[in-house]
Amino acid sequence: MAYNFDEIVDRSGTYSSKWDDEVQKELFGKSGLLPYWVADMEFKAAPEILDALKKRVENGIFGYTARPNQYYQGVISWTKRRFGWDIERDWILFTPGIVPGVNYTIQALTEEGDGVIINEPVYYPFSRSIKENGREVVNSPLVLKDNRYQIDFEDLQEKARDPRNKLYVLCSPHNPVSRVWSPEELRRVGEICLENDIFILADEIHNDLILGDNRHTMFASVDKRFEDISITATSTTKTFNLAGFYASNIIIPNKEIRDRVEKVLLKNSIGNQGPLSIEAVMAAYGHGEEWLEDLLVYLEENVQFTRGYLKERLPDIDFTETEGTYLMWLDFRAYEKDGKTLERVLVEKGEVALDGGTWFGDGGDGFMRLNVAAPREFLKEGLDRIVKAIREEYII
Ligand SMILES: Cc1ncc(COP(=O)(O)O)c(C=O)c1O
Repeated sequence: MAYNFDEIVDRSGTYSSKWDDEVQKELFGKSGLLPYWVADMEFKAAPEILDALKKRVENGIFGYTARPNQYYQGVISWTKRRFGWDIERDWILFTPGIVPGVNYTIQALTEEGDGVIINEPVYYPFSRSIKENGREVVNSPLVLKDNRYQIDFEDLQEKARDPRNKLYVLCSPHNPVSRVWSPEELRRVGEICLENDIFILADEIHNDLILGDNRHTMFASVDKRFEDISITATSTTKTFNLAGFYASNIIIPNKEIRDRVEKVLLKNSIGNQGPLSIEAVMAAYGHGEEWLEDLLVYLEENVQFTRGYLKERLPDIDFTETEGTYLMWLDFRAYEKDGKTLERVLVEKGEVALDGGTWFGDGGDGFMRLNVAAPREFLKEGLDRIVKAIREEYII
């Protein structure tokens, strides 16, 4: 491996949200926890990106900056090369992060009181954004069948048929259950939405983080007709550990939909980006691919290590396959079915911070989300703490 992911990087003094005492105290009721929650990585960015940033800092002037054509070409060629989807320069809008993009999409394509469909358990800012905008959360829960999460297409069909529901937010790959949706599943989603005039926002922030033999298909690439009803959100920030640069690509092929979203962005003066953020994105798409390939190998090894290590020590723990993302969805229901109790045990007895399953809505009780994007030694320390907490509370 050309890159070193074993290096432990001291993040103190960097104001990392994941490590911050006040943030931890507020969310977990305790600070000083070893953090395996927020989805950023304990790895330094690729040296190619750091070099580009250093060079830019050396220039010393950080005035207003325009994204050059090269920036957009980076997004276009990455999307084509890695996913086979041809997109055009005009289709790409900028928002400072995907969550803002979700909010602007909700504002552009729905009215107050309209329903927005999601599949819980799912990334919790979705329901927050829907509610904050005065829209209704319509949950079409995922089902766990044969130890694999599935979309309940009959339920989705029923909810899509309800004329009050206007938008479906698809999480692909799915955080937190780590599913990489197959082309067949995506086709069924698309057909249901087409038939019922439902717009689709495909949040594909994790689409580069695909593990093992799994392959990601971009939703809009499945069928030309799907391009016409969808917005796709991608980004370098998850893939390359650049979340603090707040940069995402909101890809909208249909001009009418694009105009509606663009109008909301204009109304809020959204679109400008900082010079370091621009450099980081260009360097990531331009020179980051080898680093990413090594990262994926390391992440897959971390997932396998975690499965073996925990299963040996906590035989009743369960897992679904981590097909994508670097987030494992751990099933502790054999030990504890009550989500809040489980979360308290891990904080108090283990002094670890993981995302509680209950945070992700229905279906999260008894599960925890573990972020394994960390040097193995640091990961192992967290696993030891989890084992200690569960053993103390439920086994010994
Ligand atoms: C599915 C999903 N969407 C969006 C985000 C955050 O995106 P951003 O930081 O660009 O707002 C995350 C972060 O974990 C995520 O998992």
